[in-house]
Amino acid sequence: MSTFPEIDLNNVPKHIAIIMDGNGRWAKKQGKVRLYGHSIGVESVRGTLKAAQKMGVKYLTLYAFSTENWNRPKEEVDGLMNLLAQTIVNEVDELDESGVRIMCVGNNSELPEYCQNELAAAMERTKGNDNIHLVLALNYSARWELKNAMKLFAQEYEEGRCQLEDLDDEKVHSYLATKGIPDPELLIRTSGEYRISNFLLWQIAYTEFHFTDVLWPEFRDTDLYKAVLDYQSRERRFGLVSEQLK
Ligand code: FPP
Repeated sequence: MSTFPEIDLNNVPKHIAIIMDGNGRWAKKQGKVRLYGHSIGVESVRGTLKAAQKMGVKYLTLYAFSTENWNRPKEEVDGLMNLLAQTIVNEVDELDESGVRIMCVGNNSELPEYCQNELAAAMERTKGNDNIHLVLALNYSARWELKNAMKLFAQEYEEGRCQLEDLDDEKVHSYLATKGIPDPELLIRTSGEYRISNFLLWQIAYTEFHFTDVLWPEFRDTDLYKAVLDYQSRERRFGLVSEQLK
């Protein structure tokens, strides 16, 4: 933290979500295949998680694989699934020791079985940890999540277990993949793209955005600190006027 002593540790986002983008472009610049970019991207995940832990962030959500990513070349999809499972296997001891709880949001049942098994084992093993929650968005898209939420509500309604009037913000939240996880205060997207790409659409209603040109494999702890400083420079009004916040 000595690099950024100006960070106010009493005003660190409880939940940071990241769209890790630019692995492919970074690999191309190195004259390497896309998968190489993803594998170096894992190093950035490691550093970012440590930096987030150091600041006292409680939830770090990473967009690791979207429902649209299945349409990439088979070799890349297979490679990404292997990388995910292998990373979990390699890292789970250290993650567990440092109090990380691994969680997943997304339609897990469509992931390859070996991935599902490694994820389930890691989630079970780390379920008692609460230093930080590492939330992996895997086979996730916000539209999938919202459609799923609507189906769950319709089912409860049809069975007479709830009324239309029951549908408030809290009730909607209870149908989401992120049930029990607070909304992110800060969303970061790397690689100079200014899009949300079907990520956490319900949850980002009042989230602050930080966009950086840095490609994900080059994202370092200092980039995370910069994003948090940027967040701390904002006035979050939640629809009110400045004077009401004083
Ligand atoms: C986007 O870059 C990145 C992804 C779709 C995959 C991200 C996955 C990792 C970094 C591995 C994560 C591992 C763990 C354990 C969380 P892109 O391929 O779209 O880059 P481009 O826009 O430059 O082509």
